[in-house]
Amino acid sequence: MSVFEGRHGSAGAPRAVWGSGGHFGAPSKMSDGFVPVTTTSALPPGAMTWVVVDRERVLLANVEGVFYAVRDACGHRQAPLSKGTLDGHVIECPLHFATFDVRTGKLLSGPVADDVPTYAVEVKDDTVYVKRAPLP
Ligand code: FES
Repeated sequence: MSVFEGRHGSAGAPRAVWGSGGHFGAPSKMSDGFVPVTTTSALPPGAMTWVVVDRERVLLANVEGVFYAVRDACGHRQAPLSKGTLDGHVIECPLHFATFDVRTGKLLSGPVADDVPTYAVEVKDDTVYVKRAPLP
């Protein structure tokens, strides 16, 4: 079994898997702390999904060809933001409709909520990588 095989939440879960529970190709090398999560062609502009990076749900969005990653938990009551909507750079929470800027994780409107942590993203060839730890 490769590091990309397995199911969410299972013992020995992979460090990075598709939100759909599918598989991602062969491991490839990247700078320290970055793990491959998807391919650029699998997430077209205007789309978002979620992946798991070190047992943490991370929302991954493609905004006009630029990829962004934030923790997939609303800063209000932890609803999965990836189940909401993406309009330009704005994510809207599906539960109480707080909005966040996917570039910065900053709360834009809605109920009082914390900002959401962001993650560094890098793209090399056709592979999208997310850094394990959120940005400070
Ligand atoms: S859980 Fe997101 S706005 Fe309440």
